[in-house]
Formats: sequence, structure tokens, C-alpha cells
Amino acid sequence: MKLIVNPNTPLRGSVGAQLPGDKSISHRAALFAALANGTSHIENFQVSGVTRPMLQALTSLGVTWTLDGKNLTVKGHGVKSLKNPSFPMDCGNSATTLRLLAGAVSGAGLRAILDGTPALRRRPMERIVEPLRLMGVEIEPSANGAAPLLIKAREKNQKLRPLQYDMPVASAQVKSCLMLAALGGAGRTVLSEPGLSRDHTERMLASMGVEIVSSRSDSRYFVEILPPDPFTLSPLDLSLPADPSAAAFLIVAALITPGSELELNGLCLNPTRTGLLDVLKEMGGNIVVRNQRTAAGEPVGDLLVKHSALKGTHIAGEMVVRMIDEFPILAVAAAVADGTTTVRDARELRLKESDRISMLAAELRLLGVNIEEQADGFTIRGGDVSGAVVQSHSDHRLAMSLAVAGLVAHQPVTIHNAQCTAESFPGFAELLNELGANLQRED
Ligand code: S3P
Repeated sequence: MKLIVNPNTPLRGSVGAQLPGDKSISHRAALFAALANGTSHIENFQVSGVTRPMLQALTSLGVTWTLDGKNLTVKGHGVKSLKNPSFPMDCGNSATTLRLLAGAVSGAGLRAILDGTPALRRRPMERIVEPLRLMGVEIEPSANGAAPLLIKAREKNQKLRPLQYDMPVASAQVKSCLMLAALGGAGRTVLSEPGLSRDHTERMLASMGVEIVSSRSDSRYFVEILPPDPFTLSPLDLSLPADPSAAAFLIVAALITPGSELELNGLCLNPTRTGLLDVLKEMGGNIVVRNQRTAAGEPVGDLLVKHSALKGTHIAGEMVVRMIDEFPILAVAAAVADGTTTVRDARELRLKESDRISMLAAELRLLGVNIEEQADGFTIRGGDVSGAVVQSHSDHRLAMSLAVAGLVAHQPVTIHNAQCTAESFPGFAELLNELGANLQRED
């Protein structure tokens, strides 16, 4: 599918229910509910390309679930009732699905093969394989150290070794994988990371009865998990907030498109996810946070965003972790800002759905953006955006960022292979059009 973006139409309106539920929290809610003892109810679940494989995985573990619109019901009968999946579990393009499932399967002592698309098979897995092995999990990656991963079953009543592990990179996927495995451990596991990655797993498992202590010492962030004995988790009853990483495209769209004013309601404002908001405010973005509250154990609020003149900024260090998924769209804001924006300490971007430094630089250059690539980031000198034909490289966030760039380009922007927007934001183009944009789909 091609997406053609015709520029120069202001965005105005109020959005709430049209935004997808948070992707990270949706993955966790579905999987943790499958481990629980009892029926979980999850409202505003993100039904998208990346969460489908997680739901499919529940079925292969023998767990029944129903989806009524965005309302997910999962019938958990406890970890002991889970079955060894008889076929390889297809995680699609979702590294979160694969890494979280690897942890859950290991914690439960099951046998499984975890696999996915060719793109997922290129994502690094040694970051979970190595610590899982230290816990005593028998896990075999493919020859290049990546998926497919074979996890072997454990003897009944045999527990995993508790782990003390310093993660080399801050990663919520790795942390969550190891926390889930630690639920099948014989004692307290302690993990540390060099920056605080999103903490949805900590919040949700604590609400299900797991003893979890988070702390900070010097420059590292620690989390301790004491597995419940016996391994039981209480079910969930949650209404999920909207995904700030999806809302990010609308936030930047409103900031850069003259005449725009958008209200975005019910966003997850967990401080481990709000790096982009802080950076955009620092760049001069007119963003007001209102009605701050708590929902589903997460800080939530509404935003009012108005078109603003932006200036360049510098992003490095721990801020990178707080906005790890937002660099493609930040780059679009930087492309039209006054002055230079530099991003450093962001080498992890090369290991996402695409190499988000090289691919971003290649596609933005086609739009006339002055972007220089570095090993661990990029430098953008703000200016004008021209029209061009660009490629998504099957990366949903790159596709949506290029579409937002098209809103302020001098001529239309055509994005090839744009169907991947449905991976995390089904209805993205339709919603922009409802708000005043002019996007056309072509098959
Ligand atoms: C996610 C964590 C992040 C993020 C991904 C979702 C999660 O990955 O990029 O989109 O739900 O835990 P890392 O934790 O590997 O950086």
C-alpha cells in the first residue's frame, strides 16, 4: 500500500478513543493474564499487527481468550495449566512478543520454539540468551545467535537459579524477559540497568501480588524480584491508557503544521515514556498537560498541543532511554526546527524494526533534509522539507514519521510499503484525515 500525503492542511480536533491502547502495556497485560489464576478483563487493548502474535501465543499455550472490539478477556488457570506449544510460536515482527514470551516460557519451565519474520530473525537475542542460561534455562538460538530460539522443558518442581545480573544496555524487553523467568526462580533475582527503561512490568506484576523493589544507586537502576511461592498471580482488571508512542505522531504533526491545535486525551504519561514531551517543550513546543490522574496503575493525562516555532536541541544519555521509540518522529520536528539538533548515545536505534539511524537518514535526505549520520546518533540542521517518493523499510514508525513530514513538505510525499503503519497504529491515516489532513491510500 502507498500513502500519498498532500501538505498544508492544519490539524484540529479532539482525540481519545481513536488512539490505540498502549502497545507495551497491552503485550504485558495479555501475557501476564495468561499466567494468572483467574479471569482478567482488559479494556482498550491495542488490537494491531504486533499484538496479534501475542494473542496467538496465548492460544498455543492452551489459554482461552476473547476479544470484543478492544476488550480482551483472558481465562488464566495458573502457570501449571500451561501447555507446551506443539508448533513454533510465530512472533511476527514483534521483538517484544518474542523476548517477553521467552521469559514467560522459561519461568514456567515449558518447551517452545520462538520464531518470527525474517526481520525479527535479524534482531539481537544474545542479550536474553546469555542471562537466561545463567539462570539454568536450556536455550538454543540459531547459528547467528538470533531467532528461532529453542527453549527446553525443565523437570517438574525444578526451579531456576536466582540471578544477579548487570544488563549492559537499558532495555525493558530484556528486563521484562528476565523478570518473568525469575518468577520460576528459587529466590530473589536482582537486575540492574544503566538507564531506567519503561517500568510497566514492575507496576503490573506488583499489582498481581509479586514482591518487587526498585531502587537507584550511583548511575544504575536496580529491580529486585521475589518470586511468589507457590507461583500464583492474581488476575487483572484494567482499562489501558492510550499509547504515547502512537500519539507522538499527532503531537509533532500539530506542532509543525501551521494553524493546528489538537487535544489528545487519556495518554499514558509514565515518566519512563515522556522523554519526547520534555524534549519538544524544550524545543519551544506549546504542549500543556491537563487532568493528570492514575489509571491501570500508570500516570495518565490529557494534552493540548498547538502549532509552535521550534528550535534545535541536544539529546543524549538517559533521555535517550525515555524516548527510545520516538527518534524517527523527533527527527521530523528537528528537520523543520530553527538550528541544529544532535542525538548521541543512541546506538540502540540501529537494532530496532529497521536501522533507525541509517534508514531515517536515507529517507529524510530524499525529502531534502540536512541530516548527518553518526555511529550512535545523528545531526540535523533544520530547514525546509521537499516532496519525494520514500520507503518505509517495513518500519511502522519510519512510515508514520515520513507521513508527518509530508504535512509540511512543499509538494506531496509518497510513502511506499506504508501498510506497516497498522503494526502499532491501525487507522493512522484515517485519523489524520478526520483531523483535517489530506492523505490518500493507493493499493
Ligand atoms: C518495549 C521496549 C523497547 C521499545 C519497544 C517496546 C517494551 O525496546 O523499543 O518498542 O514493550 O518493553 P527495548 O526495551 O529493547 O529498548
